[in-house]
Amino acid sequence: MNNFYITTPIYYVNDRPHIGHAYTSIACDILARYYKLKNFNVYFLSGTDEHGQKVEKASSESNMDTQDFVDKMSVSFRELIPFLGCEINDFIRTTESRHKKAAQALWNKLEENNQIYLSNYEGWYSIRDEAFYLESELIKKGDSFFTQSGDPVEWIKEESYFFKLSSWENKLLEYYKNNPNSIAPKSRFNEVISFIKGGLKDLSISRTTFKWGVKVPNNENHVMYVWIDALCNYLTSIGYPDLNSKTFKDFWPGFHMVGKDILRFHAVYWPAFLMAAEIEPPKRIFAHGWWTNEGKKISKSVGNVIDPYEIINKYGLDQMRFFLFREVPFGNDGDFSKDAIANRLNADLSNNYGNLVQRITTFCVKNCNSNIKNNSNYTKQDKNLIEFMNLKFDEYNKFMNEEKIDKSIKCVFELLSETNAYIDTEAPWNLKKTNKDRMNNVLFLTLNIIKNSSILLIPVIPESANKILDILNVNKAERNFDHITISTNDYKINDPKPIFPRID
Ligand code: MSP
Repeated sequence: MNNFYITTPIYYVNDRPHIGHAYTSIACDILARYYKLKNFNVYFLSGTDEHGQKVEKASSESNMDTQDFVDKMSVSFRELIPFLGCEINDFIRTTESRHKKAAQALWNKLEENNQIYLSNYEGWYSIRDEAFYLESELIKKGDSFFTQSGDPVEWIKEESYFFKLSSWENKLLEYYKNNPNSIAPKSRFNEVISFIKGGLKDLSISRTTFKWGVKVPNNENHVMYVWIDALCNYLTSIGYPDLNSKTFKDFWPGFHMVGKDILRFHAVYWPAFLMAAEIEPPKRIFAHGWWTNEGKKISKSVGNVIDPYEIINKYGLDQMRFFLFREVPFGNDGDFSKDAIANRLNADLSNNYGNLVQRITTFCVKNCNSNIKNNSNYTKQDKNLIEFMNLKFDEYNKFMNEEKIDKSIKCVFELLSETNAYIDTEAPWNLKKTNKDRMNNVLFLTLNIIKNSSILLIPVIPESANKILDILNVNKAERNFDHITISTNDYKINDPKPIFPRID
């Protein structure tokens, strides 16, 4: 059996979850469900990133004990996952002892392999990004410096352990030359390559001026830099440091879904740490774009943060999932606007899919006593439609394998539009009076296309697609890609209910 390991980034617990976090998690869930429908053995991981200065600062601002604070905040991320319809296998917290043990084991391995040395760090640091910056990467305003996204940086000067990142420059370039599919989309791959070619400096990987982190083995004064601790979560969950555990062997290397802002950590630092520890780099890293709200950058200070609970309660879970992944080419930035949501949901879900399902199933119940006999007596028009369906299924798979989720969804909606046009031409409401056999055959083929389209839509809108498959009485064991065929069974239709109400 094929295995597929997919991870969300682990979320900082300095604040409540918002639409950006929901977006990354749903993207992973779509791919996880897609691979399950292809009969892969899937392991889907999410969790929370609980160490570092950013979290420590947020906890002191809330006047809470840091451990109590992270315990409380982590729950809001854990609870969001099932609310988004995401089916995960594990939720990891970096404050758990299994994780501290794994992060320390990784550190020890790097030390053993002579990849770490002690020195002094002096330079700019952004608490918001938990990242070190060169002055040339910053913007100067008066006497202060800011990151490109406008966040302040502070000057730090302290003893620090360093990872010999500079010695990995050529090995990383070599690795990416041989594995050009390990970063997507292509533009992001190119971005990473030019970053590496620009030269890599050794990386500071420990801090001494605060305590909220995983302790560096054998030196009580240092805690690990939060990113080395955080990235290690992907190994912890599958059993590291036990490289022989079944889960580790089955699932590593994995697929990391990340936002474009954290690509560098995943595509430069992480593979270097892994290679330095003699572990295979990730199989693939996909960097998605960012959402704005009605054209503006989403930020707490602007007060335009989008709460996923609010959107789901207003439009519905599948509706939100559908909008986020149909509206914008996956990988690009997107804009969240009320008009765009209403237009998209009405055009695709209500008018195209919902309308086809509703008119066909109601017609079957009213005119055929809910029973439609199987048939393989196809006309030229039928054969054309079946051919079109097979073509769209192939395209759907090709796009999903490149994470072009929007394009895969579009394939299904092209098939549904074509089927609506077929029904308009074949007009079963007229055949009812003139040719009942032909009417049955037209309905049988249409029901098969609704079934197959619904299976293809399970990854994106699992609840609604399954409700429609329930109306069609499709056996649960047949809801997978082995059954994207024309069924040989009769259809028995259950009472239809409208699934996609129009939005005003
Ligand atoms: N803790 C790190 C990740 C460590 S992984 C080893 C982190 N956490 S985060 O909570 O700040 O961000 C998590 C994810 O949310 C990132 O992939 C980020 O790109 C995504 N998003 C945050 N805001 C976003 C939007 N406005 N739009 C889309 N995604 C965004 O980074």
